[in-house]
Amino acid sequence: MNAKTVGVVGAGNLGRGLVRRLTQAGHRVAICDHNPDRAADVAASASQGQPGRAVSVPVAEVLAAEVVVLAVWYPGTIDFAKAQQHPLEGKIVVDVANPLDDSYTGLTLPPTTSAAEELAAALPASSVVKAFNTVLAPTLYAGEVGGTALDAFVASDDEGARAVVLAMLDGTGLRGLDAGALVNARLLERLTAFGIELGQRYGLGFDFGFKYLPEGPLDLGS
Ligand SMILES: NC(=O)c1ccc[n+]([C@@H]2O[C@H](COP(=O)([O-])OP(=O)(O)OC[C@H]3O[C@@H](n4cnc5c(N)ncnc54)[C@H](OP(=O)(O)O)[C@@H]3O)[C@@H](O)[C@H]2O)c1
Repeated sequence: MNAKTVGVVGAGNLGRGLVRRLTQAGHRVAICDHNPDRAADVAASASQGQPGRAVSVPVAEVLAAEVVVLAVWYPGTIDFAKAQQHPLEGKIVVDVANPLDDSYTGLTLPPTTSAAEELAAALPASSVVKAFNTVLAPTLYAGEVGGTALDAFVASDDEGARAVVLAMLDGTGLRGLDAGALVNARLLERLTAFGIELGQRYGLGFDFGFKYLPEGPLDLGS
């Protein structure tokens, strides 16, 4: 296992589940939030009984990590990127955002772009990776749906960055899948809105996930 320090901005629903999965895999997580108490609470609960450890730190320390996950809403991701463009240079920046409209079943962006591509445009000197956006917060926290391991689709135009994020998923309980170029974020963001629509129809709320079959480890190129 290749333990690393992962920076997380945002200790809300998604951040809480993500940090728990990362500490399970033995990673060190540096997390910040507008509300430091919220970040401290997420860090403390995610560190309990796990091989990894999470700490609540100022944003500058979060941005020192090689991989920085923006667990905040779009377009807040863009505002953050513009404000922190310089410290994020050369970093892998993970975008989890679904640009949902008020119904949560539609998107605020046209199908010709995605929150991830907008973020990449705002961070030309960073490697933007789309990941975790199809995994809903309660299931991410639990790590499974009905005993089935969750898939995390990882898309980026930077193949090396994609590989780093996929390796980071080892031991989290999530199966990482190489989802190709960043343009596929358009599909991944739409997929989550569609999943929420189904969840509303079947009364599941956010307790659902997406699985690419066959189950089990898949080797690239085989
Ligand atoms: N919830 C899910 O099931 C789910 C699933 C997949 C993807 N996502 C994506 O995950 C992202 C976060 O969703 P969420 O449900 O976790 O939202 P959330 O519960 O509102 O959490 C976001 C947290 O980030 C903080 N924050 C926002 N901007 C910040 C900044 N610049 N610096 C520090 N902290 C900041 C917020 O603080 P304030 O409230 O004070 O602003 C809040 O505590 C969204 O893009 C969403 O589309 C969510």
